[in-house]
Amino acid sequence: MNKKIQQVILFAVLGFFISCNGIKEVREANYEVVPLPSDISLSSGGDFKLNSSTKIIFPEGNVKMERNASFLSDYFYQSVGMKLDVSSAAFEDNVIELTLDLDNDHPEAYRIITTENRITISGNNEAGVFYGIQTLRKSTPVGQYAVAYPPVVINDEPRFGYRGSMLDIARHFQSVEFVKKYIDLLALHNINRFHWHLTEDQGWRIEIKKYPKLTEVGSMRKETVIGRNSGEYDGIPHGGFYTQEEIKEIVEYASDRYITVIPEIDLPGHMLAALSAYPELGCTGGPYEVERSWGVFDDVLCPGKEETFTFLEDVLGEVMDLFPSKYIHIGGDECPKVRWEECPECQQRIKDLGLKDGKVHKKEFYLQSYVTARVEKFLNEHGRSIIGWDEILEGELAPNATVMSWRGMQGGIEAAQMGHDVIMTPTQHCYFDYYQSQFVDEEPLAIGGYVPVEMVYNFEPVPDVLSDNQKKHILGAQANLWTEYIKTPEHVEYMLIPRLAALSEVQWMQADKKDYKEFLERLPRLIDIYDNLDYTYATHVFDVHAKLTSNFENNCLDVELSTIDDSPIYYTLDGSEPSESANLYKGKFSIDESAELRAASIRQGGKMSRVYSEDIAVSKSTFKPIKLLSQAAMTYEFEGAGLLVDGMFGPNNNYKTGKWIGFQGNDLIAVIDMHEAVEISNVKINTAVVTGDWIFDASEITIESSDDNNSFDLVRNHSIVDTHTDHWEGISNHSVDFDPITARYFKVTVKPNVMPDWHPGSGRRAFIFVDEIMLD
Ligand code: ACM
Ligand code: ZN
Repeated sequence: MNKKIQQVILFAVLGFFISCNGIKEVREANYEVVPLPSDISLSSGGDFKLNSSTKIIFPEGNVKMERNASFLSDYFYQSVGMKLDVSSAAFEDNVIELTLDLDNDHPEAYRIITTENRITISGNNEAGVFYGIQTLRKSTPVGQYAVAYPPVVINDEPRFGYRGSMLDIARHFQSVEFVKKYIDLLALHNINRFHWHLTEDQGWRIEIKKYPKLTEVGSMRKETVIGRNSGEYDGIPHGGFYTQEEIKEIVEYASDRYITVIPEIDLPGHMLAALSAYPELGCTGGPYEVERSWGVFDDVLCPGKEETFTFLEDVLGEVMDLFPSKYIHIGGDECPKVRWEECPECQQRIKDLGLKDGKVHKKEFYLQSYVTARVEKFLNEHGRSIIGWDEILEGELAPNATVMSWRGMQGGIEAAQMGHDVIMTPTQHCYFDYYQSQFVDEEPLAIGGYVPVEMVYNFEPVPDVLSDNQKKHILGAQANLWTEYIKTPEHVEYMLIPRLAALSEVQWMQADKKDYKEFLERLPRLIDIYDNLDYTYATHVFDVHAKLTSNFENNCLDVELSTIDDSPIYYTLDGSEPSESANLYKGKFSIDESAELRAASIRQGGKMSRVYSEDIAVSKSTFKPIKLLSQAAMTYEFEGAGLLVDGMFGPNNNYKTGKWIGFQGNDLIAVIDMHEAVEISNVKINTAVVTGDWIFDASEITIESSDDNNSFDLVRNHSIVDTHTDHWEGISNHSVDFDPITARYFKVTVKPNVMPDWHPGSGRRAFIFVDEIMLD
């Protein structure tokens, strides 16, 4: 017999043996899942042992509970390969019972009681039972195991009623099948709102019967720009849309999982796909094309024309028929007003409405407010409410609108103070299209930014500045995934998880119960489920985490390395690849001279993590006490002055990682205390330049010296002439020599530029970003 056949027979016999005798390795369930339940109290008694004769029972005649029972049965099949019967008959022992008798008003609360004979999951509502099922499912190990559930009482309910996740399928279309897989992922994370971004400049993705050209013309773009608006195009048509039948199917699929789908029809901006189909709805009448590049475009709907409102009401009428959601998202973001300023019909509308320039906003902003309020009135009359991006605050906020705060928290704060409901989705914590690692060269191209898992986890959606009553207006938090650079399902998943796991704890848990380190300990078991269900996820949390802290007392850099599972870490300081023969990390150490730190964790079987890498360049000013005499820009201050002498440079192409410090309006003025009189004859400074983001090179570097940190003498004043005449990005390195000077204190001043004529910000002071000041 050939060896392979022998093996197959052996396995077949063994499998039979195992199933006949029920001999399987026993694993204990672990109730510390993501998101962590509010209260887990272990009780006494024997474990409940899951086996193939365990029954899942539900109240007779309740279709939703029957569906819940089937979900649980499916989940067990996925996790441990056991297909359990679902029944409404009364069994006494070896049952998992789903009930609706929980004495708790919260519609999403649940209780799990585990005893030797039975697990009971109760809610006052089917949704609560569903979350109990999710917890039991996540407590269950993945593999062909017999599972023992220790006796326990778990009581749990979510912090926020709105737990959202937005997916943009307009920039890049995704299939119905994938949208369902995405919805499954939301359910796994106890998320209950799927915000579905259906329309964009680059594609209209929802069938509207009354306007067939929206999908015939508007769902297809000729080609797509390569990279970040490189000016080159891929020549490949991109399109796709959902029929109304498919939409109903998805809405039902989500609803079965207690997820409400909130559709977004983004108006009046981001409408080029619709305008390409119906050019008469634009101010100029077109022609327009479905957009092939990324950004914000001047051609938007014309609110001067009555037909525009007929169109919107017709579209939203069909949208309401498809989506039972109370909320309809009407977008409202990024709507330029330049066409309206020139359009006779828009100007006539402005005149008829008596709109005037305000203190802050021009009259065209009030025209957008008019559009929003009119659409809101229409939807309110049909029993629906609007959500809009925080731009709807500019001008006059529609009376009943809920504001989705994305440009930071301020919009949400203002709205809550005005008594409006708010959903928090600030870019700094919730934009999952941003990079999740500092090492952007190793990542798929992303829009920019930096939102690692920890930044998501540390998000607090309810700002302290609000009163208790205003705080009640914060309905919840949401992740947003824009897909300009995200084409495939795998890439969508990679951007979402595990950041969504971190967000789920923000959405579900009380703030005082959250703990990032403990979350990381719980996360690997959730990742087992990702693996089992074939989701693609980012693995940065398994990499070596390095905490590098300037030690100004001992003038060195303290290095602390860790991994989430305490696996062994090896490091080198000479830039060579770490291996098991490199230094084994045994605890905090210090670096006081230039080094090329590389560190990796090597797990069982020799599997090496990504290599952490940081080059440290030590000059005479590195790790010396430094004080800023000017205020950095609020959002770009990060760890403050110490960043400028920490021996570490900022990455090219990302100024938001916390390694660059940004100033706007002010010069950068810093004083470095060298501890004793030191001779220097050179200063090196780098600036990050992204003129598209109003960040320019320095115009002047000045160095002064002092022995008493009081009166300073000029050492050198160096002017820099910017010869660029168009947008550019990159790092500008400056090295300024001077006659040797000996002193204890050095003051360094870096002046920003005034933006040049060719730039939209012409005449205003630019931002300046600096990563390091090196004196030698
Ligand atoms: C947005 O990110 N434009 C809402
Ligand atoms: Zn117009």
